[in-house]
Amino acid sequence: MKKQSLLDVQELKTNFYTERGVVTAVDGISFSVEEGEIVGVVGESGCGKSVTSQSILRLFDEKYSVEYEGSILFKGESLLEKTLAEMQDIRGNEISMIFQDPSSSLNPVYTIGRQVAEAILLHKDITRKEAYQKAVKLLELTGIPSPEKRALEYPHQLSGGMLQRVMIAMALACEPKLLIADEPTTALDVTIQAQILDLIVRLNQEIGMGVMFITHDLGVVAQVCNRVIVMYLGQVVEEADVRTLFTEPLHPYTKGLLHSIPKLDGERAEKLHVIEGTVPSLTNVPTGCRFADRCPQADATCLEHAPALEAQNDGHKVRCWHASAQKEVETYVATN
Ligand SMILES: Nc1ncnc2c1ncn2[C@@H]1O[C@H](COP(=O)(O)OP(=O)(O)OP(=O)(O)O)[C@@H](O)[C@H]1O
Ligand SMILES: [Mg+2]
Repeated sequence: MKKQSLLDVQELKTNFYTERGVVTAVDGISFSVEEGEIVGVVGESGCGKSVTSQSILRLFDEKYSVEYEGSILFKGESLLEKTLAEMQDIRGNEISMIFQDPSSSLNPVYTIGRQVAEAILLHKDITRKEAYQKAVKLLELTGIPSPEKRALEYPHQLSGGMLQRVMIAMALACEPKLLIADEPTTALDVTIQAQILDLIVRLNQEIGMGVMFITHDLGVVAQVCNRVIVMYLGQVVEEADVRTLFTEPLHPYTKGLLHSIPKLDGERAEKLHVIEGTVPSLTNVPTGCRFADRCPQADATCLEHAPALEAQNDGHKVRCWHASAQKEVETYVATN
């Protein structure tokens, strides 16, 4: 029997009710995060990375604007069947999230130190004084200079980069089983980014924290992730361990993303490759492969029929007719 995953998402759909009708922003995605594993989630803007992470925590308004389908199991328990009160308990306790936009998540009327201390007290049976000291320590760990002084300040007194670090301190305060990090270091300069990544990797190793790591930055993926899923227009188009993804990408979209990493070619920086065309609209999803109109390999089959996500080799999955055809021929030839 398969080992129980820390997080197991199966055929998740997130349907938003909008003025333009129902929009399925996440359309049948499946993936898992194991204990102690860092899974990268990459893809262009608008492909559904944030909606996926916020769906896992059920942060959208279920009364009026959203409906979920599929299943989300956390330690074997179905999150879609929990009450909102139960979800509240899980959030910031067993599952923590670092949001893309830090400004919305802190309370403007309390000092930074107090807010981080409160987050610690929710999960640890210690005195307020101890919690406050621990909060200052955590702020220091995220690279905030003069943490004792900063702890006495209010959110509006801090820059965006500082706020992001406070958010990271809050998210890590409870030593969560699962951390969902949505572009956690995009707003930070490279030195601080490296410190934050170190901190996340350290907690991942020390307490076995699983991490879902959303990023645009493939360099960061190569540095910290064990496995990667590539999303395109609400679906997973490729999944592989990090080494395989970088050395043997199968989906033309993944290949395009990898080509887009700037390289230093001798003394001259190579011209940055961009994937031609734009992502189709969610209100006008193509019937065939969703990437077909931008794909250099697309043929009539791709335009007419949607490929399924298929396993190729060990844990390597891809949603592409050409990769599947290649695999079929290889298997055919090998067995004759
Ligand atoms: N509340 C909502 N109602 C309707 N549509 C939404 C809602 N939230 C997000 N969307 C749509 O879902 C799609 C996916 O958005 P999402 O924010 O997940 O993208 P993303 O991959 O996180 O992009 P980025 O890299 O820019 O953060 C977008 O087309 C977006 O417009
Ligand atoms: Mg996002």
